[in-house]
Amino acid sequence: MSSQNYDIIVLGAGAAGLFSAIQAGKRGRSVCVIDHAKKPAEKVRISGGGRCNFTNVNTHPSRFISQNPHFCKSALKQYTQHDFIARVEEQGIAYHEKALGQLFCDESANDIIQMLLDDCMFNNVDIMLSTDIHRVSKRDTEFLVQTSAGNMHCDSLIVATGGLSIPKMGATPFAYELAKQFGLNIIDPRPGLVPFMFGGELLAGMSELSGVSVNGRVDTGQMAFEEALLFTHRGLSGPAVLQASSYWFPGHEIEVDLACKVDALAALKKGREEAPKKKLASILETFLPSRLAQTISEETFPDIRIADLSNAKLDVVAKRIKHWRLKPVGTEGYRTAEVTIGGIDTNDLSSKTMEAKDVPGLFFIGEAVDVTGWLGGYNFQWAWSSGYVAGRNA
Ligand code: FDA
Repeated sequence: MSSQNYDIIVLGAGAAGLFSAIQAGKRGRSVCVIDHAKKPAEKVRISGGGRCNFTNVNTHPSRFISQNPHFCKSALKQYTQHDFIARVEEQGIAYHEKALGQLFCDESANDIIQMLLDDCMFNNVDIMLSTDIHRVSKRDTEFLVQTSAGNMHCDSLIVATGGLSIPKMGATPFAYELAKQFGLNIIDPRPGLVPFMFGGELLAGMSELSGVSVNGRVDTGQMAFEEALLFTHRGLSGPAVLQASSYWFPGHEIEVDLACKVDALAALKKGREEAPKKKLASILETFLPSRLAQTISEETFPDIRIADLSNAKLDVVAKRIKHWRLKPVGTEGYRTAEVTIGGIDTNDLSSKTMEAKDVPGLFFIGEAVDVTGWLGGYNFQWAWSSGYVAGRNA
């Protein structure tokens, strides 16, 4: 087996790893990226429904979750969303803005992957795929990486093997284990941007409504999100739910507003005044999807004329719509979670370079680190920004 020397080895050929390798290559450093997957950047490929929501024009540190909310500021400032947009435009990739500042490729996420691979090639970055990493060790100032393709040596090691979400795509706890091996602390990882699951009667009701979507608001007590909410066979999903899941802890209740643009009590009273002979369900249908209107009517005051409902009873119905309190039995977990919250403790890393404070030459970037973005392109921006600073400093 061969033994190769590089200035820098990057572990993980995802968004963060490839981007850091490009920056290091630009500085004339010899760089090799190693990944156990057959193809690079598989998560980029499936992201944004195949169109990759590659950044968000509203990127701001407040859109990131971490034990240290200040940690992400330096990297996000050193390499901004505007820098990445400029690179995308230079490549001639057509893109468009969706709601809330989210930028997507017009054609395909493959355009972003091709851009990354073009940049790797232009900057002489080697990429070794289908390569297992057996062991990493450090002697003096040099790292030894033992792989299924032989032993490799480097002065700087950038770890970009991501978090635990979507294990069937090759996610592993490699970064956490390596961090522990070198004495770094790990903030307990948990799935984020993930649908909620429910049990018992609640689930039965939700699964009947599977496919129904509303403009909802989900409040965890810590943070509330107003976006689309979708009933599924397992419980609740949709952007409002995924966002809230990142702020939810097992055993806690959430509060759901199923008609956040509507004053439900006022709408019910108006309905009673204008169409007293109508059934409650028909009045509810004026501002809720019909299947949901039927369900809420059956659960509260079935088969009754609106005229027969007192203000107090209308208030019960309005509360069921606007302040629906419920307790998820859990989330769908890493199987479907878009991200992993937690990871390598930012206290052990330099926010300016992403280098481990006590292990010179060792860098951690991307989702492996305890910095997690909201839904909407923020996680890729973190991959680009953290990758950029590591690649500039490794
Ligand atoms: P990433 O997980 O991308 O890459 C890690 C790499 O390391 C992988 O190539 C893996 O094979 C490799 N690896 C892991 N363990 C290894 C080991 N032991 N040995 C060797 N190699 C190993 N974000 C966003 O901003 N916009 C979006 O549109 C989406 N959409 C989206 C959809 C879906 C379905 C998911 C699951 C996620 C998203 N995300 C997203 C989140 C985004 O994909 C994620 O945050 C980034 O890909 C993280 O980039 P990293 O490079 O840090 O890890």
